Amino acid sequence: MDLFRTKSVERSIEETDEPDHRLKKELSALDLTVFGVGVMVGTGIFVLTGEQAYSNAGPAIVISFILAGITCGLAALCYAEFASTVPVAGSAYTFSYATLGELIAWIIGWDLVLELALGAAVVARGWSAYLQSLFDLPTWLAGDEATPDFGAMAVVLGLTLVGVLGTKLSGRFTGVLVVVKVAVIMFVIIAGLFFIKLSNYTPFVPDSKPAESGESGLDSTLLQSVFGVDPTVFGVYGIIAAASVVFFAFIGFDIVATSAEETKNPQRDVPRGILGSLAICTFLYAAVAFVITGMLKYSDERMKTAAPLAEAFSANGLDWASKLISTGAVAGLTTVVLVLMLGQARVLFAMSRDGLLPVSLAKVHPRFGTPYRITILTGVFVAALAGFVPLSELSKLVSIGTLFAFVLVSAGVIILRRTRGDLHRPFRVPAVPWIPALSILACFWLMVNLSVETWLRFLAWLAIGFVVYFLYGYRRSRLGRGLKQAPAGQDAAPTAE
Ligand code: ALA
Repeated sequence: MDLFRTKSVERSIEETDEPDHRLKKELSALDLTVFGVGVMVGTGIFVLTGEQAYSNAGPAIVISFILAGITCGLAALCYAEFASTVPVAGSAYTFSYATLGELIAWIIGWDLVLELALGAAVVARGWSAYLQSLFDLPTWLAGDEATPDFGAMAVVLGLTLVGVLGTKLSGRFTGVLVVVKVAVIMFVIIAGLFFIKLSNYTPFVPDSKPAESGESGLDSTLLQSVFGVDPTVFGVYGIIAAASVVFFAFIGFDIVATSAEETKNPQRDVPRGILGSLAICTFLYAAVAFVITGMLKYSDERMKTAAPLAEAFSANGLDWASKLISTGAVAGLTTVVLVLMLGQARVLFAMSRDGLLPVSLAKVHPRFGTPYRITILTGVFVAALAGFVPLSELSKLVSIGTLFAFVLVSAGVIILRRTRGDLHRPFRVPAVPWIPALSILACFWLMVNLSVETWLRFLAWLAIGFVVYFLYGYRRSRLGRGLKQAPAGQDAAPTAE
């Protein structure tokens, strides 16, 4: 059994030109940066900032955002190198196929469903809740015990249509909404500055204290559980635990890499799009966190509501501003759902084109130039998840799945430098292997700070993935079938020894 057969980089690039599977190349660096900001600014900044300041980090939540941003920055450098070297749809999945082999590539593709499809469903739920409160709609529309979340399903299906009609259209649609949400975020930062009370920053790092009951057993982090430490909140440890949670706010920059194949000049523009959007978001997040904890004491109950940014303004007598912020949140979350779904469709597209999923799913629409079958399938799947599955417990699975992908991509950079030192790399990570190694450690550190329960769910999902691979992908893989037919040493042969 050859579980680690790799697909050569040259072959990956060649296959993007097959007539039935060719995507339109029409995106620029600016489009990609807008995509990046469009998918990142969402639930993380609009909801988690207050909750984590209240329960884990206090005003030092600013440091948590910076730590999470640095971790993503390390991984982003690795994504940028890969995307510039292998500009093919599929992101982490495609990179792993070229370096770590088919089995790992499959598992990564499977794992990305947690980041992309599950992530889109989680954010669609948030969208529906914000919309309901913004317009005082009947609560059953956003789902209660008796009804599915109609709002979430509607936004997912509407955005699926946009995804089918064209990548450029999705780009334009995202562009408009991104302007709205960035304007609202800038408003929060600039207007908020005038309402900061310096006393709210003391203590900046609240003293560590034992966590309240419930934070035990499966709820405690893997790290605490392995070392038998009693769970605590606040203090230095609280800052790190909060970083693992607010990491969610950065999820998405890697999706820019999934659009490499649709970019006019991917070697130059993909690294720019990835690093540019990440830098913009890190700055915006740290600024928002700083302003909000200055406007409202971290220990104020209003911090832990679903709309802490709006609450911070209401608390200072600016009720009108809270509506404005909710509008920004609805716009913001819409683009997050759209881009996450587009990313999911691109990864599944690459997997079907390789035969690890049914090849017929990878058909591109003759007129719109989009992978319409897989886009519709993704939309229906995400709508079902968002409408019917209780998701609040599952959102941390999104983070662990993403961090795992970052670990593998970072490892892939070190491996590809060794196995294919000859490849042209328009963008190179500095100080290899140290930067990728640091990226692996930082991501792993955030992973072990997630709960035991999240780990168990994650491992169960991966186990199902292995079963599906052995029942289907292993036999149907285009690479596997090619390997049997082609004489040794031909293109279909693995590049790695
Ligand atoms: N980064 C995205 C958000 O915060 C997933 O909603």
